[in-house]
Amino acid sequence: MTEKERILQEIEKNVRICSKCRLHSLAKNPVPGEGNLDAEIAFVGEAPGATEDETGRPFVGRAGKLLETALAKINLMREDVWIGNVIKHRPPENRDPLPDEISACMPYLTLQLRTIKPKLIVTLGRYSMGYFYPDGKISRDRGTLIKAGDYNIFPVYHPAAALRNPIMMKDFISDFIKIPGVLKKLDLAKETNQSFGLKTGEKGQQGFNF
Ligand code: URA
Repeated sequence: MTEKERILQEIEKNVRICSKCRLHSLAKNPVPGEGNLDAEIAFVGEAPGATEDETGRPFVGRAGKLLETALAKINLMREDVWIGNVIKHRPPENRDPLPDEISACMPYLTLQLRTIKPKLIVTLGRYSMGYFYPDGKISRDRGTLIKAGDYNIFPVYHPAAALRNPIMMKDFISDFIKIPGVLKKLDLAKETNQSFGLKTGEKGQQGFNF
């Protein structure tokens, strides 16, 4: 077992016994997250839905099918990436997570990402973007590479929102297919020691729109 696997297993164990907020007693299963621990890209959603709650796996319902379709468009499969959520237990009736639930759950995602160290984090929807970039606005910042502290984030609409709204679907797909180019730019920036993307707190200036 690698050190990464050991740490991720430890985090998962803690998620399984977590009782830091009310959600653990309302959900059927925790959904800690899964995927390639050496992935270049991590996808972070909001919270498990009904199918995820049943299975204990992230993005396996309708939104997950769309995520897989979008991944296929950039020649990736879910096994190539890491997929997780800000919140690890399903909020009842898929209601929005409450601020105390988000803050109780935050350390798990932080530790997971610090261990996996993906080059790029694609945030799915506004809650996920807000975790990294509280002042962000999804309709303005989607499709933009943003440097949020130590993380490079690329916000896109949530696939469930895209399924409800054809205009958002178009934007979701057009942002998604920019991901390989964003990775290339990040590699180039690293090679040439340049900074890339818009830093949080610098909104209103020319961002790096892909
Ligand atoms: N929506 C999310 O935000 N996460 C999931 O895992 C499933 C649906």
